[in-house]
Amino acid sequence: MQMLKDAILERGKALNQDVLLVDSFLNHQVDVPLMKAIGEEFAKHFADKGLTRIVTIESSGIAPAAFTALAMGLPLVIMKKQTSKIMNGDLLQTTVRSFTKGTQYELTVKHEFLPAGEKILLIDDFLASGEAAFGVLNLVQQAGSEVCGVGIVIEKAFQSGHQRLADEGMGVYSLARIASMSADAITFAE
Ligand code: G4P
Repeated sequence: MQMLKDAILERGKALNQDVLLVDSFLNHQVDVPLMKAIGEEFAKHFADKGLTRIVTIESSGIAPAAFTALAMGLPLVIMKKQTSKIMNGDLLQTTVRSFTKGTQYELTVKHEFLPAGEKILLIDDFLASGEAAFGVLNLVQQAGSEVCGVGIVIEKAFQSGHQRLADEGMGVYSLARIASMSADAITFAE
């Protein structure tokens, strides 16, 4: 998606060969018109898949997922990385480890918001090694539903996430695929 690639080249910053800073338009400050265009692109791509629900993980996946849900006229469910006393009821949970951030969390969703028999589209901001996506697959499976597509805003194509998801039969649609990056240059994969 050219508009996104332009934003990455003009406003993104490679911190090193592995981490791309995009806090000026995606993770911290949000470019809302860009998010709207991203949502419309995902909606167009996944239009004929018979989807019934969009799922994302807090927090940076929310903006692109919300615009996708709006464009497709579907409900959006945000999977939580933290639980609280007021989050009770029938909860589905799985542990996710983030290699990029060196952290781990209990990915949690209320069963009532992820019922059985749903056809799910997962939207997320980054795909690296795919741990977060596999956490979502696990919860959707626990719920008795099915992930029918994965939409990613920025994929780090030099990491294993895409291949791991493809090996599970998951169709991954990434709007920008980064082949390599350094302080001087960001290169996209086709
Ligand atoms: P994985 O799920 O694909 O295995 O990814 P990994 O564990 O390595 O990273 C998970 C977290 O790190 C996610 O944020 C993801 O958005 C973020 N991340 C991964 N690579 C990059 C990168 O190159 N640049 C930036 N800016 N973030 C990256 P999170 O913990 O879910 O945080 P949030 O921002 O969504 O709250």
